[in-house]
Amino acid sequence: MESEGLKLLKARRSIRSFEDRTIEDNILTEIFETCRWCMSAVNRQPWEFYVIRNKDLIKKIAKECTTGPFAASAPVLIVLVGDKEVQPNWYVHDLCFISLQLALAAWTFGIGTCWIGRINRDNVKDILGLKEKDHLLTILPLGYPKGDIPDPRPRKSLNEFVKYFDLKNKG
Ligand SMILES: Cc1cc2nc3c(=O)[nH]c(=O)nc-3n(C[C@H](O)[C@H](O)[C@H](O)COP(=O)(O)O)c2cc1C
Repeated sequence: MESEGLKLLKARRSIRSFEDRTIEDNILTEIFETCRWCMSAVNRQPWEFYVIRNKDLIKKIAKECTTGPFAASAPVLIVLVGDKEVQPNWYVHDLCFISLQLALAAWTFGIGTCWIGRINRDNVKDILGLKEKDHLLTILPLGYPKGDIPDPRPRKSLNEFVKYFDLKNKG
């Protein structure tokens, strides 16, 4: 029997179109509160969330999102930044983990997001006044999905990526 948790993990989709609807403060806070419990190397928690809700600033930053212009339609952008001095070795890993934690926490409220990979990072860092030590990993637009939830993308089958090494090499 599939638990509610597993259903949630499997149902998440990247969302690239958002309703013109505010995300309530208490919901945003609950999502961030859940992010506090994310794993991180040596528990350093090197992340910072820059929360952008001003429409003009959202549009300005979205213009720098080469592969995520849809960010312009989101009511909230989270610019996900890591402090390289706090965790020089694992900041990228830690930021990746918290981006997933954030995406899943948001999804429990019916709020979608999508990772944006190609960004003019230096321009966004300038806009926000970030420093050299600040690594801008991604920008996560948050919002209620507009229209239908996208169909699932194709997935590898288990036998394509799960290798039971112990059984194969028995004896
Ligand atoms: C590291 C990473 C970078 C991604 N970059 C982009 C991007 O730049 N633009 C975009 O539209 N989607 C981006 N995605 C979303 C993926 O395309 C998406 O997760 C994948 O197609 C699977 O779809 P799903 O998230 O709906 O399951 C990225 C996802 C990851 C994990």
